[in-house]
Amino acid sequence: MAYLNRTTEQWQEIDSAHHLHPFTDYKSLAKEGSNIIVKADGVYLTNTDNKQFLDAMSGLWCVNVGYGRKILADVAYKQMQELPYYNSFFKTATAPSIELAQQLAEISPGDLNHAFFSSSGSEANDTVVRMVRRYWDLKGQPNKKTFISREYAYHGSTMTGMSLGGMTAMHEQGGMMPGFAHVMPPYWYKYGQEMSPEEFGIFTANKIEEKILELGPENIAAFIGEPIQGAGGVIIPPETYWPRVQEICSKYDILVVVDEVICGFGRTGNWFGSDTYGINPDIITMAKGISSGYIPLSGIMVGKRVSDVLIDEGGEFYHGYTYSGHPVACAVAIENLKIIREENLIENSKNTSVYLNEKMKEIADHPLVGEVRMKSYIGCVELVKDKEKGTMFEDTGAVGTICRDYCIENGLIMRAVRDGMIFCPPLIFSKNHIDELVEKLKKSLDQTHNHINKN
Ligand SMILES: Cc1ncc(COP(=O)(O)O)c(C=O)c1O
Repeated sequence: MAYLNRTTEQWQEIDSAHHLHPFTDYKSLAKEGSNIIVKADGVYLTNTDNKQFLDAMSGLWCVNVGYGRKILADVAYKQMQELPYYNSFFKTATAPSIELAQQLAEISPGDLNHAFFSSSGSEANDTVVRMVRRYWDLKGQPNKKTFISREYAYHGSTMTGMSLGGMTAMHEQGGMMPGFAHVMPPYWYKYGQEMSPEEFGIFTANKIEEKILELGPENIAAFIGEPIQGAGGVIIPPETYWPRVQEICSKYDILVVVDEVICGFGRTGNWFGSDTYGINPDIITMAKGISSGYIPLSGIMVGKRVSDVLIDEGGEFYHGYTYSGHPVACAVAIENLKIIREENLIENSKNTSVYLNEKMKEIADHPLVGEVRMKSYIGCVELVKDKEKGTMFEDTGAVGTICRDYCIENGLIMRAVRDGMIFCPPLIFSKNHIDELVEKLKKSLDQTHNHINKN
């Protein structure tokens, strides 16, 4: 591809002249220039200056099987030659979409036996809202429209995803739609230190009940939550949280929707975060790890309670996307699931994460670190102003950004959410990769500490 033959400066110039990036401050990007990634293999990325980075974020929480899997490219190539596209509208289907739906039904929790496909997590959550509201209409309870979610939840960036999510900065741009409410998340380090984590889990789950009573159970369609809130800062709930949430939702006849976009496909040590936390969802949202990011694909798995009503009483469901069940994406996903299964990646990553947990104790001792929290291969190093008192920085996010930039300089990709340093490595991460991660993170923390003490 001839156009690839450009210098970093040329790329950066064209990039800022023509390309509006997602979640980006355009002025500062134009000043600093993008880090342009040209290739990747295993758990390493390479940029246009031939600099290598250890990717401790699996891209954007998605490359679960790691980079450079030629078999996924081969499957896509073969499927493109055989049948590059056909849709699933109007009583047609393609073989890969049917096969994938069946395989997903096998690995999904409980009686989630029907798949509805789309291309991104945001679209999948749009489908959730459309389908859940349709379900309650068919049940003769059309007032049950409101979704309860949590502050700091991330459910996507479309109007629906943004409204479902609990990011106030996003709500302020574009206007949240009516029919969505948010409650306190189970973020113990920030809000709950005067209670035990177990007490705080119950306390925050009870916030959902308070919201249900405030708005009226007859108006509430569903509660939606990520098993572990990812983009909100890897908020790991106390063990008491989900069982109480489940109890509250069944008490008031409210559907439980679990957004597995990050937690699905091995991230928390099981196929789904719902398995890890013993959640019995009515619907789950999936994306990212379903295809390990090699090709856009998402979907929802629907439980019997909802699918029975849609199928038996629904008539036509006026909803779907051109690319619902795209055959190439589904073929890649089938092969991706095969890799996860055959290489035993879920069990292996869960076992290796014990070593990561052990090594992170070295990080936890650092004067800047208030808490290290993790579950299998997802976690957060919370940077704080006062380690002893557990006080966070007032200028939220400034120190996190400094540390993130040092990590990049040191060849390590981690993400800063406020002042939390996030890790979410590919499931193939080995002990050597963990050693490299911890060494580079330690160096970056020292540099950050010196930086803020000097300024
Ligand atoms: C939990 C969760 N849900 C939904 C989404 C939205 O997915 P997408 O960016 O593919 O629209 C994300 C993206 O990070 C996510 O983390």
